[in-house]
Amino acid sequence: MDKIVVQGGERLTGEVRISGAKNAALPIMAATLLTPGKFVLSNVPRLRDVVTMEHVLRVLGAQVEHHDHSITVDTTNCRYHEAPYELVKTMRASVCVLGPVLARQGRARVSLPGGCAWGPRPVDFHIKAMRDLGADIEFEHGYIVAEARRLRGATINFETSSVGATENAMMAASLADGKTVIQNAAREPEIGALADFLRSMGSNITGDGTGTITIEGADELHPADVRVIPDRIETGTFMAAAAITGGDILIMGGELDHCATVASKLKEAGVEIIPVEDGIRVRGPERIKSINVTTAPYPGFPTDMQAQIMAVMTIGQGSAVITDTIYTDRFSHVPELRRLGADITIDRNVAVISGVDHLSGAMVMATDLRASAALILAGLVAEGTTEVSRVYHIDRGYEAIEKKLSGLGAKIWRESEN
Ligand code: EPZ
Repeated sequence: MDKIVVQGGERLTGEVRISGAKNAALPIMAATLLTPGKFVLSNVPRLRDVVTMEHVLRVLGAQVEHHDHSITVDTTNCRYHEAPYELVKTMRASVCVLGPVLARQGRARVSLPGGCAWGPRPVDFHIKAMRDLGADIEFEHGYIVAEARRLRGATINFETSSVGATENAMMAASLADGKTVIQNAAREPEIGALADFLRSMGSNITGDGTGTITIEGADELHPADVRVIPDRIETGTFMAAAAITGGDILIMGGELDHCATVASKLKEAGVEIIPVEDGIRVRGPERIKSINVTTAPYPGFPTDMQAQIMAVMTIGQGSAVITDTIYTDRFSHVPELRRLGADITIDRNVAVISGVDHLSGAMVMATDLRASAALILAGLVAEGTTEVSRVYHIDRGYEAIEKKLSGLGAKIWRESEN
C-alpha cells in the first residue's frame, strides 16, 4: 500500500486542470448496457472506481478498452446479468447496473453493496423504483434478484432524493413500455449529464435538473459517444486547497456553476473566487473566517465537500458548526484531524470546530475517499511532516492528486508504505 507525505507550509500558486467527474462517468458507463453497440467515452478520469466499473462491464459481457482518458465500450455481446459481490463490495456505485441490465436482459442479479466507512448505505429506494416499474424482486444470499419480461412506465416517488436511485430509475425507464414520472428526483449535475447521454442514445427524457423527471420509454436505444463533465468535487477540493494555504491558483476546466454553493461558502470565509476566461481564480485570505455549513442535496452544499471544508475550518478564526444532513455519521476524518491538532467536538451529525493557530504534522490514516482529501489539505498547512496512509482510498476518486498539488508548489509525494 502507498502513503502520501506532505511537508506543510507552502502557499499554492499556479494552474491546475480538473479531470472528468467520477460520479458522472460511473452511471454513464452503466448506461451503455442498455443497448448493443460501440461507445466512445472521453474525458474519463483515470481512477480506481472507473477501473472497477470497467471490470463490472466485462463481467457482464462487454468489451472495454481504455486509452489515456478515453474508454471504448462494446456491449454487443452482453448476455450476462450478474454483478458479483467481489466487485460490488469494493464500489457501491456498481449497483447502478441494476436498472440497465434488468431493462435490457429482463433479469439481473446484483450483489447488495453492504456498508462503507461511515455506516450502512441502503438501496431500498433502488428496489422500490424497480418494483414500481413492474419488476419482481427477491433477495437471496446477499444478492438482489430482479425479473421483468418488460418493464412498464410508472410514477416513482422517492421519499428523499437519491442520486443513485434516480439514475437507476432513469436508465430502467428508458426501455420501459410507456411513460415514467420520477418525483423528488435528485438534481445533481451528474443527473443532467446522464440524461444528456440517454437523450443522445435516443431516450425521450425531460425535467432533469428539476425535482420531476419524465421519461417516455423506447422499444430500443442506440449507442452514442460522450464527453464526461468536469468533476465539481475535485474543483471544490482545489478551491479548499487554495483557501487553507492562503494561495492564489487558477483552476482550469472546472464548471463554477456546478459548485456555486461551495464557492459562496468559501467566499463567506474570506476566499476570493473569480471566474476568468479559461477557469476559476481562487485566492485564499491571510486568515480563514470560521463559518457554519449544513449539507443538503444539490444545489445545497454537497456532503462530498463536508470533510474538506472541515479541514479548512480547523485553522479558522472563531468557531464553525458543520452539520451533515445526508450521512449522519460521515465523520471518520475527525479523529485523524485531531491528531494534527484540530479542536473538533461531535454531537450526532453536528461537528463544532474551534479554529487553532496552527496544525502540526503527524502520521494519520485515510478511512474513505473524501476523508483522505481532508487529511491532505490539513497536511498542506500543518507544521512539519504529515503522512497519510492507505491512500488507495483517495485513488478511488482523485486522479494523481499529489502530482496536481506538487504542480501548484506543494511539497508532497507518494511513497510505498512497506
Ligand atoms: C452518490 O451516492 C455519490 N456517489 C456519493 O459520492 C454522494 O455522497 C451521494 O450521492 C450524495 O450526494 C456516486 O454518485 C457514485 P444517495 P449515492 O443515494 O447515490 C439514502 C463520493 O465521495 N439512501 O444520493 O449512493 C442514503 O443513505 C461518493 O464520490 C437510502 O436511504 O447517494 C443517503 O443518506 C460518496 N436508500 C441519502 O439517501 C437508498 O436506496 C442520499 O444517498 C439510497 C439512498
